[in-house]
Amino acid sequence: MEYKEFAKYYDKFYQNKDYAKETNFLTNFLKQNDKIIDIGCGTGIHASLLEQKGFKIDGLDLNKEMLDIAKTKVHSNLYLQNVLDLNINQKYDVIISMFAVLNHLKNTYELEKALLNLKNILTEEGKIIIDLHNPQTSGKKIDTFDNMTRTMEWKYDKRSKIEESKIIFEIEGQKYIDSHTFRIFTIDEMKLCCDNVGLKVKEVYENYDINTMGSSSSKNLQFLIGKK
Ligand SMILES: C[S@@+](CC[C@H](N)C(=O)[O-])C[C@H]1O[C@@H](n2cnc3c(N)ncnc32)[C@H](O)[C@@H]1O
Repeated sequence: MEYKEFAKYYDKFYQNKDYAKETNFLTNFLKQNDKIIDIGCGTGIHASLLEQKGFKIDGLDLNKEMLDIAKTKVHSNLYLQNVLDLNINQKYDVIISMFAVLNHLKNTYELEKALLNLKNILTEEGKIIIDLHNPQTSGKKIDTFDNMTRTMEWKYDKRSKIEESKIIFEIEGQKYIDSHTFRIFTIDEMKLCCDNVGLKVKEVYENYDINTMGSSSSKNLQFLIGKK
């Protein structure tokens, strides 16, 4: 199932994801009057938590069904756009992109294009925070919560840097399958793609913690990026 059909279940299925911790991590980089945008905002969970903390934040996503849900929680501008064809006539102090949004891009050419588009809407001193998925292995995990069973299976191919993942949610006898092909970008690839478009990776964190530096073995990576 792609996000189109998945959207209405998204918040329920990810109810145990620690969005509060992720949002607290983000606040380390925000000032109260910053103009902020969330790229790939999905159903608007980070944006609405940031709104609750008094920040004003726009959102962008290419999936209408996800954005329709975001509209019920987020009060700023929500753009239905692909980051690869970004067309916003504004500059932002902070751009965030959380939970593997850019892993949906197919290759480093698309990554560079996306980064260039982000640079074009960033103020001179602005910050970009990009959260990427960074699997190391293949595996399977089953867990049960709130009358729901979640079976996650993922296969990571180190050579192609592609992860194929499938999550099966079973709830009241119904099965919902969410499958993705993710391109996993290494720290070096991110640094090079940033460099090629006039950006610079300033820090790499893991696990939404400013005291922990990310490395190739981190499960997730948060890149703090600015203009060169
Ligand atoms: C795993 S969800 C993350 C949503 C949200 N950031 C969160 O943390 O819950 C990935 C989101 O990225 C969006 N997305 C994927 N590729 C995109 C692209 N090229 N441009 C804009 N949004 C994209 C999807 O529609 C989806 O809403």
